Amino acid sequence: MSTGTMKKSHSQWSSRMGFMLAAAGSAVGLGNIWKFPYMAGQMGGSAFVLTYLLFMFIIGMPILVLEWLIGRRGQKNPIHTMEDVAVSEGHSKSWRWVGIIGVLGSFLILSFYSVIGGWATDYIVLAAKGTFEGVNGKTTALIFDNFKADVGSLLTWHTVFMFATAFIVALGVGAGLERGCKLMMPGLGILLLVLVGYAIYASGHAFYKACDFLFTPNWSALNGTAILAALGHAFFSLSLGMGIMMAYGSYLGKDVDLLSTARTVVILDVVVAVLSGIAIFPLVFANGLEPAAGPGLIFVTLPIAFGNMIGGTVLGILFFIFLTFAALTSSISLLEPTVELLEEKTHMGRKTATIVISILIWALGIACILSFNKWADVKFFDKNIFDSLDYLTSKIMLPITGLGTVIFGAYMMKQKRIQEELNLTNFWFKIWRVLTSIVIPIAIVAILVFGLQH
Ligand code: PHE
Repeated sequence: MSTGTMKKSHSQWSSRMGFMLAAAGSAVGLGNIWKFPYMAGQMGGSAFVLTYLLFMFIIGMPILVLEWLIGRRGQKNPIHTMEDVAVSEGHSKSWRWVGIIGVLGSFLILSFYSVIGGWATDYIVLAAKGTFEGVNGKTTALIFDNFKADVGSLLTWHTVFMFATAFIVALGVGAGLERGCKLMMPGLGILLLVLVGYAIYASGHAFYKACDFLFTPNWSALNGTAILAALGHAFFSLSLGMGIMMAYGSYLGKDVDLLSTARTVVILDVVVAVLSGIAIFPLVFANGLEPAAGPGLIFVTLPIAFGNMIGGTVLGILFFIFLTFAALTSSISLLEPTVELLEEKTHMGRKTATIVISILIWALGIACILSFNKWADVKFFDKNIFDSLDYLTSKIMLPITGLGTVIFGAYMMKQKRIQEELNLTNFWFKIWRVLTSIVIPIAIVAILVFGLQH
């Protein structure tokens, strides 16, 4: 791989494949598993899936490419990358704010993402102990409620998960992030195929019911709310607007083709989301349960299915390992931008930087844990600490950073050079221009306005 004009000291991905798996690892996360399938079922089946697919390609993919492109130009953490690239294009250093909000966003998100990653890890153990055998809805809800009230155990699993995240990140870009994803992503793929296979094999007629729920096109359910939800999810699912992809781009060699890599990442992300639905909903329907979204689906509904079917214990263990891998390949990407910043700004070295940042995030995670129990009444605008952090980051900070990135890319950077760098023919470049200068900014403003109302 050529090093171009890069500083020698800066790390790099060892191969395009490693980079692609790391980016896909960041993209594939809890959103694919507990959010997308339910959204699809509720908001129009294949009408929603197709809309989502369109947004992933015309909105998500160009921003993904821009974040990588800017990161690769800057070769530094997102804040200094934005600053340097802005100055080299003849603009103000204030563009660093796009990087600042992004890095801050990833820092804040990890504090609660790690708590949920801890739940997933604990559920591997619960499934292995046979806790779910023969349970009904009341029992699993009780198990989950008790778990959320138990500060000691939440803290233990948050600590375990954060430690695992920090351990991988401390090893560095090649030996940590890249190797971790090279090991976990194929594992994740195999587990998903096993889960899908089982769902098809064991759920009988419920499999068709699940496909019906997920795919029957219902264009009337695809209202404004659904369209904006698809847009927002395309954004979240590709881990955009939080400095992650910019940081990942900073470790990228000049010879990697950004467009084709982005296309693969988008496809992988969508395929995992759709297959997750095919793995989950047949079990839900076969057990006569109601589909739900979010934590309720994964930690309350699914355990009932696992507890009442043949081979359910093993399947439950595999499912929660799958969930933990998906969360871990995303959490390491959330830690990276801040660690890169501290590593470059100070002389503490990568390991110390990782430890310092991880302890800060871990401590903030404790506030999230307490918001489920002792601090449940501490509210900002009617939301507890956990929900406030989620709202602030995904509904406000993320779109703002995304908007900043696309405006910068479309109006502040020399377009000819972008065309060359992306190897676009004039025809495709015209489309790129229309998307980045008009369509995407309008779409992000719509996400922002919509998000503020919900
Ligand atoms: N992209 C991840 C998902 O779909 C979530 C995520 C968001 C991960 C932001 C990292 C950063 O679940």
